[in-house]
Amino acid sequence: MTAHDAISIIRAKRDGAELSDEQIDWAINAFTHDVMAGEQMAALAMAIVWRGMNRRETARWTRAMIDSGRRLDFTDLPRPTVDKHSTGGIGDKITLPLAPLVAACGAAVPQLSGRGLGHTGGTLDKLESIPGWRADLGPDRMREILTDPAVGAVVCAAGADLAPADKRLYALRDTTGTVESIPLIASSIMSKKIAEGTAALVLDVKVGSGAFMPTHAEAHALATTMVELGADAGVRTVALLTAMDTPLGRTAGNALEVAEAVEVLAGGGPADVVELTLALAREMVTLAGLDTDPADALADGRAMDHWRGMIHAQGGDPDAPLPSAAHTETLSAPTSGTLTRLDARAVGIAAWRLGAGRARQGDPVQSAAGVRLHATVGDQVTAGRPLFTLHTDTPHALPGALEALSEAIAISPQSPRHNPRGPLILDRVGDGRS
Ligand code: URA
Repeated sequence: MTAHDAISIIRAKRDGAELSDEQIDWAINAFTHDVMAGEQMAALAMAIVWRGMNRRETARWTRAMIDSGRRLDFTDLPRPTVDKHSTGGIGDKITLPLAPLVAACGAAVPQLSGRGLGHTGGTLDKLESIPGWRADLGPDRMREILTDPAVGAVVCAAGADLAPADKRLYALRDTTGTVESIPLIASSIMSKKIAEGTAALVLDVKVGSGAFMPTHAEAHALATTMVELGADAGVRTVALLTAMDTPLGRTAGNALEVAEAVEVLAGGGPADVVELTLALAREMVTLAGLDTDPADALADGRAMDHWRGMIHAQGGDPDAPLPSAAHTETLSAPTSGTLTRLDARAVGIAAWRLGAGRARQGDPVQSAAGVRLHATVGDQVTAGRPLFTLHTDTPHALPGALEALSEAIAISPQSPRHNPRGPLILDRVGDGRS
């Protein structure tokens, strides 16, 4: 094919045709090597947003993105590998207790993760609030940590050679209004997860105001596509659909979330964080073929031991005090009653404005910034008592964060007949076969 074929590929998809394997391979390869111009790939992505891709096209697109870089291989490890991916939510610190918990159950967890962009925080940003902790590890060090029976879990930055086509394409989609496409989102996420070399994968697909996918139907369609892509690539994959209308736990912000994750590992922590951690851990352990209940490893302290080993292995000090913010401000409940709404997106935007997130790739984040919630949906609140504490090193950020939170809540003077929070785990997709 020649550079001119970019136009015929764009036209074909624009007019609703199926792309052949050769057309897909050529487009991804040409874009990665600057043969297909950014504006041409943007036009193709927009045609895909409108026309979609079928299962074969999406699987081929994913494979072409994996083949644009290096695929890690951990098949020779002495333990089964399993990872999880969340589509991102507010206060979603689940990886932090989950990875060491599943490692404590006998699996190896090789998680390559990203930094956050916009109002949902990234796992690496959270872990980087721990003094000394480093995200950049090579595959040899990853393998050493995964093989160490006292650790067995690693969470580190994806290197530049992991699905480089996706790195370019995601940056382009972000600036051309072409993120919102199930085949493009599914192939983007799964290309990175398949390339990281895990044998099994549990997906946490969020549904609700704080999520990518606001409706159950859209989240189900995304989950189904990702589970199929996993199966097509030989990675046993299951997805849980989980509620993200209200933040998970009582904190949103990097160091605040680490502290909450440590509470969970110590046997406490908010009930929703514990519930989701255990639900995902059970799925992961089952996919890994292990016959053990993760609740035991949480209760008897083995998960905490693996957390300490995991932080240590990446240069961090699990006993060092976490950073605390230079400024805090408390917002009180305006009336008394039952908290019936606490909008995840608004809390995410407030935490982001306080400095916990970044607007552009490469911006720094504040470790100590964020929001602590003193109540969650379904709780009784009292007028004048604290509802939120805002944390920041940059006090000029406070008015913008307070404004975001002003519309976040609803308080009902009557007790509702049903818990307004509803179930956390909404659905399950996939049978874990490959
Ligand atoms: N996350 C990704 O990695 N890719 C997408 O397309 C959307 C979310």
